[in-house]
Amino acid sequence: MDPPPAELYIGLMSGTSQDAIDGVLAEFSPNGQPRIRATHSAALTDDLRHQLDSLQRPGEGDLDLALQLHHDLGQRFADCALRLLDTAGVPAQAVRAIGCHGQTIRHNPDGPAPHSLQIGNCALIAARTGIPTVADFRSADIAAGGQGAPLAPAFHQAAFGTAGRRRAVLNLGGMANVSLLGADTSGWDVGPGNVLLDAWAVRHLGQPYDAEGRFAALGTADRQLLAALLAHPFIARPPPKSTGREDFNLRWLDTVLAGFANLHPADVQATLAEFTAAGVARALDGRGEVEELLVCGGGARNTDLLGRLARRLTPLRVATTAAAGVDPQWVEALAFAWLARQRIHETALDLSRITGARRPVILGCVYLPGRPGA
Ligand SMILES: Nc1ncnc2c1ncn2[C@@H]1O[C@H](COP(=O)(O)OP(=O)(O)OP(=O)(O)O)[C@@H](O)[C@H]1O
Ligand SMILES: [Mg+2]
Repeated sequence: MDPPPAELYIGLMSGTSQDAIDGVLAEFSPNGQPRIRATHSAALTDDLRHQLDSLQRPGEGDLDLALQLHHDLGQRFADCALRLLDTAGVPAQAVRAIGCHGQTIRHNPDGPAPHSLQIGNCALIAARTGIPTVADFRSADIAAGGQGAPLAPAFHQAAFGTAGRRRAVLNLGGMANVSLLGADTSGWDVGPGNVLLDAWAVRHLGQPYDAEGRFAALGTADRQLLAALLAHPFIARPPPKSTGREDFNLRWLDTVLAGFANLHPADVQATLAEFTAAGVARALDGRGEVEELLVCGGGARNTDLLGRLARRLTPLRVATTAAAGVDPQWVEALAFAWLARQRIHETALDLSRITGARRPVILGCVYLPGRPGA
């Protein structure tokens, strides 16, 4: 009998940093091991970023603007998927499904109306590509009592889990989330990743991010400011927990900084980098069995931040997921290709130790493209 064939999936991710749509075309072996066949990153414009910012302030936000961006992002996601097919020379019919995370505009799983809302019209993606498109990965988890986030730890276990050495994975996106791999994989958001570093770089450098952490490296972290930042109630909250721009944003930072008017901007940036590193160190504290931390996400390029992490976590070995064969930039997009595969195979995921969901759930809704010519 012929072995079951490998399957192709596309993963599309646009995270809390609102920097770009990252896309991968990946081949999964029958046992679920991924191999990346093509990648593409499409930067979001400043204009789009500002419009998304305005949608994310609770109590504000314009429904007409949300619908316009739902459409515009749907087109951009579709463009990214079509570009991947083109680059790889793969016909649309060869791809089982697209997993599209969408762009989060609200995440509040703990409120009186628990929700996590992503926009980006996936019916449009299915129609333009002719490929079934899986979307809305978080709602079923929230309906089962979970946080709806983070979802990537289940993929981190599938891709990076080892029988021997105890590994943890750290995704440094806008927010930071850790996964402790093993038979009992757990994972949670630990606090901000790059979001505050980015906001401060925009204000003081006129740049979207602090490249390689060079601005932070010029400053000296301030212990009192660090303590004030770490006093945010999210940091000490026990998991399961998830966070977003609702908790960590420039307005909150400005309220904390009101007591530190004399600090040089580079000292503030250094302290923000320490804040991210300290949040991760606290999350791993008391979990002495972890021997190796693999970092992914755009923050893996921040040399200064990786150095701070390594210093705080000694003797734990800090590397990027490149050491395990996956470029850190594509891990989260690959996670959504993997999650689409789980949905198409109707595999329920037990995320009870990750999101706190009370039962295994099948994540995502499928938009079917319809028969060609129908
Ligand atoms: N060369 C670099 N030096 C420093 N930081 C970088 C560099 N390149 C990217 N980054 C950081 O990575 C961020 C983007 O990372 P990424 O795309 O993983 O996050 P995200 O979009 O929030 O995704 P997710 O929500 O899935 O974690 C940028 O906003 C920036 O802060
Ligand atoms: Mg991104």
